[in-house]
Amino acid sequence: MAADADFREFPRTPVLSREAPTVAVIPRGRVHADQVRYRLPWLYQAYHGEFLELAGQVVQERVFPARDDRYGIVLNVQDGMTMRFECHVDSNPLTGLLFCTDHPVGGELVFAHDSGVTGIAAVDEDCSVIRPHAGHLIFFDARRHPHYSRPLTEDSEIRIVAVMNFYTKSFPESTRPPELNRHLYGDEV
Ligand SMILES: [Fe+2]
Repeated sequence: MAADADFREFPRTPVLSREAPTVAVIPRGRVHADQVRYRLPWLYQAYHGEFLELAGQVVQERVFPARDDRYGIVLNVQDGMTMRFECHVDSNPLTGLLFCTDHPVGGELVFAHDSGVTGIAAVDEDCSVIRPHAGHLIFFDARRHPHYSRPLTEDSEIRIVAVMNFYTKSFPESTRPPELNRHLYGDEV
């Protein structure tokens, strides 16, 4: 399924991008949420079930999955050495990320310690690095800390992660910036 992902150069995301000013597009692949729902129903169900339950254990308040199925759970895919994931901050208060492939080197998820940095070179100067390990599920609040994923180091490799947006009672889905949906889905409002 990842091989059929929507592979292209994605324009930088409004509001949330923390790419260097010279970077206009970032090549990567995405399996959109509707495809995940219809082709991987077990994963969509886990997002609303077991994974939601685990997400609830990491914060001290009620956690909710996204009601809008366009961005609840998606797959991000990197095929070969030319792709990476955009350096950005999250708009949602809790993200779940399930690594689906192993990579001893390359494809790391990198978080900046300094919330004010832009660009991957600056992030790399002071950061925490998580190596992709298939089956590991992590949760994080990255509304303030820029993060991105590094390119792979082999052309034959494919990196797949399932990314889940969660919301909380104090930071509900209604806080999602409308610019994002306009940018991603062409919403009028
Ligand atoms: Fe993120």
